[in-house]
Order: sequence, then C-alpha cells, then structure tokens
Amino acid sequence: MTRKVKIAVFASGSGSNFAALEEACKNGELNAEIVLMVTNKPEAYAVERAKKAGIPALVFRPKEFESKDAYEVAILNALRESGAEWLVLAGYMRLIGPVLLSAYPSKIINIHPSLLPSFPGKDAIGQAVGHGVKVTGVTVHLVDAGMDTGPILAQYAVDVVDGDAEKTAQAIHAVEHYLYKDTLSELFSR
Ligand code: GRF
Repeated sequence: MTRKVKIAVFASGSGSNFAALEEACKNGELNAEIVLMVTNKPEAYAVERAKKAGIPALVFRPKEFESKDAYEVAILNALRESGAEWLVLAGYMRLIGPVLLSAYPSKIINIHPSLLPSFPGKDAIGQAVGHGVKVTGVTVHLVDAGMDTGPILAQYAVDVVDGDAEKTAQAIHAVEHYLYKDTLSELFSR
C-alpha cells in the first residue's frame, strides 16, 4: 500500500459528500486521509459529521477578516500545519481566491451538480429543472479563479426525475457519492 494522500475537505452544508469521502478513506477505496475539514459555516451539519469521525473541523468566518486574502491566509496556515496536499471542495459555497490558488496550483478539486459548463453557480439542480432539460448530471473539475470553471476531470449524466428538483437532487447526490471518490482515487494514483 502506497502512502496515504493527505486531503482537506471544504464544506458549507450538509456534508454528505464529506461523509462519503470519509467512508471511502476508512474502507480503503480511496488511498487518502482527511486531515482537516474546513468550513465557513459554524452551523453546517458537516461540522457534526467531522466531530463524529474524529476529524478536526476548522470554522473560519470570512466576516471576521479584513479581506478575502487575510481569510485565506488563516486557512492556509492551518492547511500547512495539517500537511494537506490536496484541497477537496464538497459543497463549499465560496469562490477560492488567489492566496489558496497559488499555494495549491492544480491541487484544488470541486464537485458540481450539473454537466458543466451548463448551470454553474448556486442551485444548479433548480436551474436545470427550471430550464426543462431532460438530462443533467455531475461534474468533477480542477478549480481555477472562475465560478465552477477549470479543467473537467469527470462527468456523469443523470436524468431529471419527473421535472422535480427534490427527486433529481437525490439521484444526483447518489452519483456524487461514488463519482467523487472514484475520480480522486484515479487522480491520486497518477
Ligand atoms: C453537492 O451537490 C455538490 O455538488 C455541491 O454542493 C452539494 C453539497 O452537498 N457543490 P453535501 O453538503 O455534500 O451534502
């Protein structure tokens, strides 16, 4: 078994992708170790999940910093201390800025619930249903300075279910939970 890759997972919400990755690390499907969970939302359920899993959860409130750079420098210091080699965004609702982008070049990954470049930004599933598309999906991509842009690593199509955002979200989440670990596993083995 090769050395485990150290990752930090960034999340702002329920953290179901964080949980799926944590499980994959535990059962050996992903040769990685989550050394840190970073959030900008103290109330995020992802924080509870991290606590239960025994993973340090760092809550950084952007408003408490004088600038985005200062906010990211604080995160960067914690990342360096943790030894994190890759940053894995899993429902992190903030754009990554120049401080983290330059500290982790081509080492920041995101998952987005649409077939990018369609429906970037917030509520991608609602956008897809609202447009009446029949097929949407999931994209895993490298992060650049844009909103849900950057080289695409993997995509998987998901049918829109009955024109219903809730049902479609369930189908999308189920795909996310295996597509993310599989894509990361492939990436880390390169
Ligand atoms: C996922 O749909 C992910 O693609 C998007 O945000 C959502 C996070 O869900 N970026 P969860 O917090 O992992 O359950």
